[in-house]
Amino acid sequence: MKYRKAKYDDIKYIAYLVTELLGSCNIESEKSILESNIEEISENFNNYFVCTIDDKIIGACGISAILEQDKYNLNLKNVREILYFVVDKNYQGRGIGTTLLKLCSDNNKCNIIYEAWGDNGKFANSKFILEKCGYKMIKDLGNDYYKKNNYCYKCVNRHKNCHECIAQIWLKPSMTKNIV
Ligand SMILES: CC(C)(COP(=O)(O)OP(=O)(O)OC[C@H]1O[C@@H](n2cnc3c(N)ncnc32)[C@H](O)[C@@H]1OP(=O)(O)O)[C@@H](O)C(=O)NCCC(=O)NCCS
Repeated sequence: MKYRKAKYDDIKYIAYLVTELLGSCNIESEKSILESNIEEISENFNNYFVCTIDDKIIGACGISAILEQDKYNLNLKNVREILYFVVDKNYQGRGIGTTLLKLCSDNNKCNIIYEAWGDNGKFANSKFILEKCGYKMIKDLGNDYYKKNNYCYKCVNRHKNCHECIAQIWLKPSMTKNIV
């Protein structure tokens, strides 16, 4: 098992995983879910880390550049956001997700935010990993956030009859003083 920064050629394999495990957050795109993901991941592929086994990508996590907009009204400066975070179902529960998130969260000069979703009705899917990586939940966006913002039709659960879905913002604060 190896961890490395993503390369251009990895984009479609990361996009396959995201399509299979999450759907797409790129709801502005008219394209299919896979194509929307390829389009979106291409913009930031330099900021993704991947985990490989025998050169096959089995996990990925990305982080944005510094955000220009305060899209969640958090009133924070110097903010980067964790992007897609996925591990192949056959390899989950072995610490790969935790390592990938740590690789992306290793920049203590920025505030790092993470929009966590939860389709299990109880807590955000990555709650335990977030806690281990030093994140704290700072904002509840409400269980109708995805529905209200039209994300559901590109979600991996689009064929299920979901009633609600957890949406929360988690923060790993910058260790640099005077930046929050
Ligand atoms: C979220 C995801 C990336 C995690 O990847 P992973 O490789 O399985 O993660 P890890 O193995 O590092 O960590 C899972 C941890 O959560 C812990 N965990 C899970 N459910 C738990 C529970 N109910 N109580 C306590 N701990 C729990 C596991 O024990 C494990 O911790 P450990 O390593 O200390 O034992 C993966 O599950 C995934 O791809 N999910 C689908 C896509 C998704 O939802 N992405 C997140 C978007 S917000």
